[in-house]
Amino acid sequence: MIERTFVMTKPDAYQRGLIGEVISRLEKAGLRLIAAKFKRLTREEAQELYKVHKGKTFYEKLVNFVTSSPVMLMVWEGPEVVKIVRKLIGATSPDGSTPGSIRGDFSVFVTYNVVHASDSQESARREMSIFFTDEEIYSVKRDIEKWVTPEFSGNDEEE
Ligand code: RTP
Ligand code: MG
Repeated sequence: MIERTFVMTKPDAYQRGLIGEVISRLEKAGLRLIAAKFKRLTREEAQELYKVHKGKTFYEKLVNFVTSSPVMLMVWEGPEVVKIVRKLIGATSPDGSTPGSIRGDFSVFVTYNVVHASDSQESARREMSIFFTDEEIYSVKRDIEKWVTPEFSGNDEEE
């Protein structure tokens, strides 16, 4: 099933020059980038994004961190994209993120873990709507998808 998910490179990706690496890994996996914005989050945006964690011990540290440098906000599309992106990113815990995943390859810290991705389709819809309007999302089918993944359709009306 074709889904959309929200992905954000975190400030450590900006500081370490890993934004391109994150995009490249998702792109090479065959997923389609359909919206992007580069900006520094306001505290209000960070609090809204991470509101499920309000009150937890790491919440203030997390909000301070994600507002500390610019981030790349993105929407990605593809079959089972929510689960696939979480797999490509790796587990939250540094000792659980396997080599080959983005976090497993680039981070040993639970807070400074390079990238955020939605954990369910419901979260994806909520998180996308914080940062993107429908008009800012460009879902255009690529020619190659017609034969690599026939069910991978976009807004294009052609078969
Ligand atoms: P994310 O939301 O950023 O994609 O990360 P996640 O789903 O893998 O993990 P989540 O439980 O949602 O936590 C959100 C972010 O908070 C920071 N964190 N710090 N114990 C800690 O110090 C702690 N636990 C979580 C991480 O940056 C985590 O990605
Ligand atoms: Mg999360």
